[in-house]
Amino acid sequence: MILDRVKPLDAILATAQKKSLHRSLGWLQLTLLGIGCVIGTGIFVLTAVGAQKAGPGLMVAFAIAGAVCIVAALCYAEIAAMIPVAGSAYTYSYATIGEFFAWTVGWALIMEYAIAASAVSVGWSGYFSGTVLGGLGIHLPVWLSAGPLALGGVEGGLINLPALLIALLVTGLLVIGTSESAKVNAVLVMIKVTALTAFVALTLTSAEFDTSHFNPFLPAGIFGGWGTGVGAVGAAATMFFAYVGFDAVSTAAEETKDPQRNVPIGLVGSLLFCTVFYILVAAGAIGTLGGQPLMDAMGLPLEAGSPELARQCALPQFADALVCSNEPLAHVLKVLGFTAVGNAIGLAAFVALPSVILVLIFGQTRIFFVMSRDGLLPERLSRVHPRFHTPHIVTIITGLAVAIGAAFFPVGQLADISNAGTLYAFAMVAIAVMVLRVKDPARRRHFRVPLVWLVAPATIIGCVLLFFNLPTAAMLFLPGWGALGVVIYFAYSRSRSHLGKGIVEVVDDVAGQETMVPMAPE
Ligand code: ALA
Repeated sequence: MILDRVKPLDAILATAQKKSLHRSLGWLQLTLLGIGCVIGTGIFVLTAVGAQKAGPGLMVAFAIAGAVCIVAALCYAEIAAMIPVAGSAYTYSYATIGEFFAWTVGWALIMEYAIAASAVSVGWSGYFSGTVLGGLGIHLPVWLSAGPLALGGVEGGLINLPALLIALLVTGLLVIGTSESAKVNAVLVMIKVTALTAFVALTLTSAEFDTSHFNPFLPAGIFGGWGTGVGAVGAAATMFFAYVGFDAVSTAAEETKDPQRNVPIGLVGSLLFCTVFYILVAAGAIGTLGGQPLMDAMGLPLEAGSPELARQCALPQFADALVCSNEPLAHVLKVLGFTAVGNAIGLAAFVALPSVILVLIFGQTRIFFVMSRDGLLPERLSRVHPRFHTPHIVTIITGLAVAIGAAFFPVGQLADISNAGTLYAFAMVAIAVMVLRVKDPARRRHFRVPLVWLVAPATIIGCVLLFFNLPTAAMLFLPGWGALGVVIYFAYSRSRSHLGKGIVEVVDDVAGQETMVPMAPE
């Protein structure tokens, strides 16, 4: 009985048609959009965390995570081009596998976006404190620049003030209605790509580049062991974060010229581009500075973000270690003597990362908004501000949660938890694509996944593989959060669901394109 409520696809498509956005985007714009959303804390900061988990195997980790994202991206593309309305995987699930699973996907997405925004805020804080404040000769005391040890921060840490402040600042911008324009995105893409290109060029040609740094290549093996989150696949589960955000490209499918050709080029192109770039960055960092993990007494890598790793990193002999840096890319160049370029890369991260936070918090509020308009969450939370026309209440609640996460937790743990939610949502999208192929084979698809019966199951297998290679705490967070969600669904949402009351509403955006179709009660 819980699988009974499926939103009629026709009602959703009627809304989408009304909107009929101008098809203006080509493959290049889509690729730029993808790169703009994707490159962020993953490569600029988590490189150090990934190296701690896999050593030089970080390069393999980028390849594995990239491959999972490419097959997932194809599934996203088919369904996004077909159901081009707000709500992403939540809406797709509502129209295919029904309200209950849609609720679980929406609930997971709330966790994904908010915690990812916290992670990027912490990543930004590392570059702000290291490059910007450090460059000005200001050194924040540890208690103001890291979360407490008890929560996986560092010894003497209390609160990560810069991370808290950037999360609140971005929230303020969203409340007054800031959104990222294509022009700003293009400039930020250029800044990020130039910074990474400079990094790759300088490190790969450096006299310090030494192939012996790649030995042993897999110090923690391919699979590091159940629940440890280490090894190449464990690192892939973390570095998956570096690719998150590409769904923004799939949601632009409706605005794309010749989507059958351009959407896959844009999605796969931007992901392939990032994969190659990420592998080169990892090769440059490890080839010059070395990237072997710090090990415990058993010969296993110390857990990223653990108190013991923080203690080891405080020892003078590890002062320059890649795995200990909060701003690894700038750090590598500074150690190599390219101080000015290192500072420029730090500045690039400082300028570009807030836009990733903005996109993530924006995404979260829109999912929340659509869910509350469906009656599944309290509607007063999605009230639109009379002057700014933004869903200010949910934006402020989200921003506060993001700021709290950013203030107290380390970046690696936040990324792992966020990845758990994302992997669940991606797997559900792959299921939705297959369900629709069976239930509604004749419906027009602007883009069809090639070899869908291979690609969609490969997406699910990839997501499951990465999920079970996350550290135990991140893995357990999802069922814990999910259980809370299921309780709320049955205690609150199910009886208030508009669809359950016989009203089909399709909400497309905050400005309020909304279609109401009465239907026979269940
Ligand atoms: N992929 C984005 C980043 O790495 C979320 O910051």
